[in-house]
Amino acid sequence: MSKEEEKQLNNLILNYINGEWIPAKNGDVIERVNPANTNEVVGMIQSSQKEDVHLAVQAAKKAYKTWSRISSVNRGQYLEKAAVLLEKRADEIAGTATKEMGKIFSETKGEVIRGAAILRYYAQEGMRQQGEVLPSASNEKLLFTKRVPLGVVGVISPWNFPIAIPIWKIAPALVYGNTVVFKPAEETGITAAKIVEVFSEAGLPEGVLNLVNGNGPVVGNALVEHHDVCAITFTGSNGVGREIAQKAAKRGAKYQLELGGKNPAIVLEDADLELATDLIVAGAMKQTGQRCTATSRVYIHEQVYEPFKERLLEKIHSLKIGEGMDPEVQMGPVASKKQYEKIISYIQKGIEEGASLLIGEKDPTFHHGYYIKPAVFENVTQDMTIAREEIFGPVLCLFKVKNYEEAIQKANDTNFGLSAALFTRNLGRTFQFMDDIEAGLIQINGETGGAEPQAPFGGMKDSSSYSREQGQAAKEFFTTFKTITVLPVQ
Ligand code: UN1
Repeated sequence: MSKEEEKQLNNLILNYINGEWIPAKNGDVIERVNPANTNEVVGMIQSSQKEDVHLAVQAAKKAYKTWSRISSVNRGQYLEKAAVLLEKRADEIAGTATKEMGKIFSETKGEVIRGAAILRYYAQEGMRQQGEVLPSASNEKLLFTKRVPLGVVGVISPWNFPIAIPIWKIAPALVYGNTVVFKPAEETGITAAKIVEVFSEAGLPEGVLNLVNGNGPVVGNALVEHHDVCAITFTGSNGVGREIAQKAAKRGAKYQLELGGKNPAIVLEDADLELATDLIVAGAMKQTGQRCTATSRVYIHEQVYEPFKERLLEKIHSLKIGEGMDPEVQMGPVASKKQYEKIISYIQKGIEEGASLLIGEKDPTFHHGYYIKPAVFENVTQDMTIAREEIFGPVLCLFKVKNYEEAIQKANDTNFGLSAALFTRNLGRTFQFMDDIEAGLIQINGETGGAEPQAPFGGMKDSSSYSREQGQAAKEFFTTFKTITVLPVQ
């Protein structure tokens, strides 16, 4: 068997550096297994080291010289091409993501469609305003600002949105003239390689986008600490995010963090209960609860607590759990052993601390797949671990409240501030909620999850670093200004 055949047989995924697919220097690989069937090996990714990161950063630094000088209109055209190619490969890429991290095919396919929309939005961005003319104290002078790129940007993305999140970081980084070194979560290194392939097929010049697969503490850290990386954009856990912030701040690099959530939904006495139940179940259980925007706490007015609970349990009970390629399945496995163990331990902790488990399992039996039944708790107090920490799994806590005031006080009693939902028909309360709730993303009669490419995305409090992604907000992170004064002389 030739080396090429062997690689294909094992689905060996290489790094992409300076326009070439190459192995990590030390030759080590990481095996990726299907979380729906842990006996199935999906492929192998490189276990890169600091030296591989250095190579990628050098390639990106070299490419920056020309890429940053190409017009942004031109750079946008590469993104438009990538959108078309991504759509062509939608089923294949979505299928890879489902096999690699477990979420159901309709969700991964939705991500591809979202990815294409993001690419098109930023393709157009190349034709929009890149600065402004300001009045000068002297009317002989022309005073204006010009947006300029930062340089080499490090993109560190999570496994839970393996297609959309890398694209919503890479697309704006590129259109504004930066070059990129991309380090995906090791759980989704194969999907990441397919995204990079799409950019490469779109004809992106060598070195503009580089992929380095490997473990977070090694590869992520090398990227964060590399002196030629001007900025780091990260989505992931609060613990890692804060470490990145410290390291980046220490060497003067720019950073952007999108972190966790503990997102509340409030159901008032005049809510449309059917709508509220549907959207709260979707908010809590889509992607098996593995979203930083997932609904995890519900504050329900006492007048409607029982009917709401009854509907909710019925709906959750009917959710079909299984392998994500099966079109009947509504909830796939969780992404990894680490996730599986963490979520189970939270369910156990909930029971130990005195909450009542209405539906779900304390100790599921393992059958070659990381399946966890959705869990719903009641009799939860604000100080319990399950009410305070981000679980990142299909676990929902119900709280009975006397009125809006109690609901809002408890909803805000958290270190997080990503998203929040209110279910009501009362317009007065709606406006009050917009002011009262401490969250970056607010939904009235909507699901806590979800994002549109043209709108800023991000949270308050510990959920972000006060920056926002997507829409025009991305411009703030991926560019800086030159302020220019011109005095024409004869
Ligand atoms: C969504 O809810 O559709 O990692 C987007 C996350 C968020 C993105 C959520 N950064 O879950």
